[in-house]
Amino acid sequence: DWTPDSFIESTVKELKVQLGNDKVVLGLSGGVDSTVAGVLLQRAIGDNLTCIFVNNGLLRKNEFESVLDQYKGMKLNVIGVDATEHFLNDLKGVREPEKKRKIIGRDFIEVFDKEAHKIEDVKWLAQGTIYPDVIESVSVNGPSATIKSHHNVGGLPETMKLKVVEPLRLLFKDEVRRVGKSLGISQDLLGRHPFPGPGLGVRILGDVTAEKVRILQDADHIFIEGLRTWGLYDSIWQAGTILLPVKSVGVMGDERTYENTIALRAVHSTDGMTADWVHLPYDFMAQISNDIINKVRGVNRVVYDISSKPPATIEWE
Ligand code: XMP
Repeated sequence: DWTPDSFIESTVKELKVQLGNDKVVLGLSGGVDSTVAGVLLQRAIGDNLTCIFVNNGLLRKNEFESVLDQYKGMKLNVIGVDATEHFLNDLKGVREPEKKRKIIGRDFIEVFDKEAHKIEDVKWLAQGTIYPDVIESVSVNGPSATIKSHHNVGGLPETMKLKVVEPLRLLFKDEVRRVGKSLGISQDLLGRHPFPGPGLGVRILGDVTAEKVRILQDADHIFIEGLRTWGLYDSIWQAGTILLPVKSVGVMGDERTYENTIALRAVHSTDGMTADWVHLPYDFMAQISNDIINKVRGVNRVVYDISSKPPATIEWE
């Protein structure tokens, strides 16, 4: 019978045999899958595992610092790389969603490869790929997925020639969460909503600037913390905010304003392939709308997305 503990025991044993004394590199995203893969590998091979966590400048507010701290608290051998400027520079003036995705994916590989090259004699690339990623081309999982589509399809730079190890490739998401729990990973981390690899880059419609990232991070933070405070977070598959390329007129005191619009998105889903919008309580939406408009400079209007997938997608880009 499959249990998290039996899976951990047999997988750790197999990984020890497979990897021996080899050095392994893994990209951490802050998400569930890469974290569980990291802790599992760490258990098998200790500090022969080096983890790399890249800040692409498109993460949630304070995410890079707080998740990096959590990783260090788990005793993972992790290198944090703040590459915000690298990404934002390359994204300058780019408006098209697929182009933005390509640039973010390419920059990630550049940053990751540069760090991986610093690890002497590294032989393996570990990935947090799970079973649905194996059977579907659409993945819901951040950098590990980015590595997958770009590294494996486009190929790693010839000089690296890393072998790939994917200890979670036969597991479903709920099994990954149970394994994570058995490994002692905090519930807070295991219960996190999915977050796309290109991050806020595909939630800022049109071109990306540092100022727009600031606005969206602040609005998103208010929304997500509100969901937690109201006890709504855990019943929702995924939630976030979108910065629309729409300005509209408002009033503040005696002043006329002409500012940005934020859309809230919250969906129920089981696999991300279909989704229904969440019937959020009106009182909650009223509070979030007030908070965002009063506290986030540059926003004077908040709307709620009531579209289901299909035909709408979860992300707007
Ligand atoms: P859509 O927008 O297609 O999203 O309904 C379905 C799920 O996939 C996530 N998503 C992505 N994840 N890279 C990712 O790693 C991407 O480019 C990407 N685009 C969408 C989305 O957040 C949702 O969970």
